[in-house]
This record gives sequence, structure tokens and C-alpha cells, in this order.
Amino acid sequence: MSIKHSMNEFLSKVQNLFKGGGDVALEKQKKRGKLTARERVDEILDSDSFLETDLFVEHSSTDFGMDRKKLAGDGVVTGYGKIDNRPIAIYAQDFTVAGGSLGKAHAAKIVKVMDGAGTRKIPLVGINDSGGARIQEGVDSLFGYGEIFLRNTTFSGVVPQLSVILGPCAGGAVYSPALTDFVFVVEKISNMFITGPQVIKTVLGEDVSPEVLGGAKTHTTVTGNAHFYAKTEYEAFEQVKRLLSFLPANCLEAPPVAKPAPPVKGISDNIIPDNRRKAYDVTDVVKGLVDNSDFMQVHEHYAKNIVVGFARMDGKPVGVVANQPRYLAGVLDVNASDKAARFIRFCDCFGIPLLTFVDTPGYLPGVDQEHAGVIRHGAKLLYSYSEATVPKVTIIMRKAYGGAYIAMCSRHLGASSVIAWPTAEIAVMGAEGAANIVFRKEIAASDDPEATRQEMIQEYEDKFANPYVAASRGYVDILTEPHKTRDIVIKAFEFAGEQDHGNSFRRHGNIPL
Ligand code: HXC
Repeated sequence: MSIKHSMNEFLSKVQNLFKGGGDVALEKQKKRGKLTARERVDEILDSDSFLETDLFVEHSSTDFGMDRKKLAGDGVVTGYGKIDNRPIAIYAQDFTVAGGSLGKAHAAKIVKVMDGAGTRKIPLVGINDSGGARIQEGVDSLFGYGEIFLRNTTFSGVVPQLSVILGPCAGGAVYSPALTDFVFVVEKISNMFITGPQVIKTVLGEDVSPEVLGGAKTHTTVTGNAHFYAKTEYEAFEQVKRLLSFLPANCLEAPPVAKPAPPVKGISDNIIPDNRRKAYDVTDVVKGLVDNSDFMQVHEHYAKNIVVGFARMDGKPVGVVANQPRYLAGVLDVNASDKAARFIRFCDCFGIPLLTFVDTPGYLPGVDQEHAGVIRHGAKLLYSYSEATVPKVTIIMRKAYGGAYIAMCSRHLGASSVIAWPTAEIAVMGAEGAANIVFRKEIAASDDPEATRQEMIQEYEDKFANPYVAASRGYVDILTEPHKTRDIVIKAFEFAGEQDHGNSFRRHGNIPL
């Protein structure tokens, strides 16, 4: 065979493989407003940085008619590339090829690139767009999923793993994204569920649309299964890039340092409202302290009573955890505890220091929360802060009552530095509740119970609703005004260092996160 013939044969094979599932399937993909797998990879990576692997892989199964079908790349595009000039491993399922279904060879390609991420110690970005287990390949596709889940778990805390859901992701397939660190979804494009609307209709007689059951809004607001919501695929890719800019490539590397920059607008000393009950937006406080006022929220639309996300202080990435007085007065509940705990653990895995802002009346009381397991879920917050060995700096802005005072990264859970503002109220509980219990008899015996109650509340507030008792015990390290806080936080991080719990002999702790 001549060289020319070999070259032509090669080029024609590549051309065919690049067509994925063919013109009709590509057209269908476009009609749905979806990019193709290759377009997605190109969009997300730095231009011309993609090194594709295993383009010529074919399924080897002879099951159920599959031997008669050639599937381009076996329905998944895999390889390596760069984002902001930093290497990543990537796979993108190709829905145009047998619905992106996962058979043995398809899974082997993903597994290979996952192993590549693990051994090269670089982040993994997976793009999911698939009908799930390839039905014709039977148990081989289940084998494939198992191999993927195993690696998601093995590399958890070793390299960041990101899942971008850009199509269906159903059945057991959802557990790979669930095992990764961050999940991105796009309006009207992403669907995640264990069983789809048809099964639900058959089994339970319930009617539900795919969007309501497991669309982008549902997963970012109701279930918390996804962390980032985007209106378009392009927006999701920008979110992926921005997120990676805060993260190290692996757990051994320090997080990437940017040029330090002051906040666009700093904070004034009256950032906390005069009226102690008045709400304010804690993201204004965060933005007023961090570099460039650049704050990337994670889980922005879920459990809004707590805010978590990434920012930089003096150029170095920090993980922010902040009670949000604007929602439910910033109480801690089941979902807020889960949200914060998972985030804290992520930061601790990857050496990202934690900056905590405290203003919370405490854990939310009530039958609903108790029965939803607020004890078990709330414990995760205590556990993750206690477990974290990264530098931890806490700012108590206003309310820090009871268990929530302890839970929000107090000195007692190992904070490197606790800073409090003059507006801080550090006490066992809020003044009203405390006065009603402690002075019950006095209030009951009074000629004017309401006036006495107010008097007692005032007395309690004067005595306990301040930072001075805690500071006198050394539970608060530094008292300062809001406008001086940024410089102090930067110094506090500088002097904090990693902590050593002295328990590296243990296999691991045990809490279901
Ligand atoms: C093989 C599949 C497939 C699958 C889709 N296709 N899903 N082939 N195995 N799981 C094929 C279709 O036959 C079709 O091929 C092409 O992909 C496009 O599918 P359409 O149905 O035409 O597309 P659409 O109308 O958009 O519907 C998409 C869909 C639907 C909602 C995903 O295809 C669907 O319900 N698929 C089955 C989903 C499912 O039950 N998967 C198994 C889940 S169990 P042609 O040749 O006609 O173009 C599971 C277990 C995992 O995943 C356990 C892990 C622990």
C-alpha cells in the first residue's frame, strides 16, 4: 500500500470518527440547543491545547447486535488539555453516538483518563451527556460504572473532580457526578435522576416533567445535588474556568497565587445595622474584605442562609463560610450544615485556608428540623471544622449564640485566630430567650410583666451581648473595627500555618458526609 493511500485512509477514518453519530444525530443535538462533545471540549480548553486519546477505540462486545454497529470513539471523547495554561484531564460523552451510552470500551476510555488525572495529579473535568448504561452490553456497562465510581472515590481529595451535566444523566450514572467535588448544570439542558418521569408515573402514578424532577433549577435550589447553575453551556464553561483558577492541581500543590489587589470598595465601621434585628447582606461584607471584591459563590441558590465560596486575600485563595442574615436570619439548619461541611472538607483536602464570618442566632428549632435529622447533619459542621488542619480565621460580626457559636469555627474547634467586632454578641443564647428563662419568676411576679421582661432583656444584653466576656477569657484573640479587619485577617493567615492533630496513625474518621 502506498504512503499516499495510507494517509488518505487515515484521514478518511478520522473524518468519519469526528462526525460522531452522523449528520442526523448531530442535527438533533443542535436542535436541542446543545453543543457537540468536541465543541464542548474545544470551548472549555485553551485553544489548540487538546490532545485527544483513544479516538480509535471500539467496543468489543458481541452482545445484542452491538457487533453490527461501529460507534465512533465508542461514544466518548477523552484526552488532556489546558485551562489557563494549566493541564487537566477531560472526557465528554457524545450523545450523538448511541445516546452517549456507557459500554465497556466507553467506560475503559473514561477510566484511562481518570487514571491519567490521578497519576499526573491534575484536575479531572467530566462532561456528562448520556442515556446511561448501554443496554446491549448488559453487565459490562455496570462493570464500567463500578470502575468509574471506584476512581472517583480513590482520587477524591487527591485531584479536584468537576462534573458538567450537559444532557441526560440518569439511573446509577448520577453517582459519578455525586462522588465528584462540584457539579455544574445548565437550564433546560441538564437532567439528573435515579428514575425518570415514566418510571415514576408507572410505579407511583405521579406526573412530573423531567425539568421539575431533575432539571438545573431543581438541583441547584431544592436538592443541592448541583453547585453551579448556568443559563447556557458557555456560561457553565466560564464557571468551570473561574473555579479552577482558585484551586491547586492536586492536594500536594499550594493553591495558585494571584497578584494581590484591594477590594473595589472596603467596609465601613457601620456595616452592621444599628438595629440589632435588622438583616444585611453578608456578601457585601465578604466582598468588602477580599481581593478585587471577587467572590465566587458555591451552591449560591441552595440553603441561602449560609454562604460559601472562593475568594482571595492578598493574592492567596481562601474558602469563605458566612452566615447570611438576609435568609432565615442566618440560622443553621440541615441543609446549611451539609452545604458548609462539604465545602469545608473540600478546602481542607486542597490546602485552602478557611475564612468564617459569624452572625447566626443558632440551630433552627422545630419538629421539622429535628425530624429531618438536624442533630446528625449539624454534627457535620462541627466535625468538618474540627477536622480541618488548614489555617482557619474566624470573624464574629454580631450574633454568636450557643452551639452555633461553637460550630462556626470557634477557638474551641481549633480556629487559628478569632477576630470579633465591637458589635459581636457572644452568649449562650439570645437575650429574649435567656431573659424569659432566667427571670421567669421575676417577670411572673411583676405588676407589669412586659416592662419587667424588657428590663431583664436589657440587663442581659448589657451583661452578655458583647465580645468582652469572651475576649477576657481569650476565646476571642483580637477585637477590632470592621475597617481594619482586612489587614488583620491577612496577618492572621500569614502567622497561622497548618495544624497537626497528631492522629495521622488513624485510618480515617467516621462521619457520613
Ligand atoms: C443504548 C441508548 C441508550 C442506552 C439511548 N440510546 N440510551 N442505547 N443504551 N442506555 C440510544 C437510542 O437507542 C438512540 O439510538 C439514541 O441513543 C438516542 O436516543 P433517543 O431515545 O432517540 O434520544 P432521546 O429521545 O433524546 O431520549 C434520550 C433518553 C432515552 C431520555 C436518554 O434515550 C432513554 O430513556 N434512554 C434509556 C435510558 C435508560 O433507561 N438507561 C439505562 C439506565 S440504568 P438510535 O440508534 O435510535 O439513534 C443505568 C444503570 C447504571 O444506567 C447503573 C450504574 C450503577
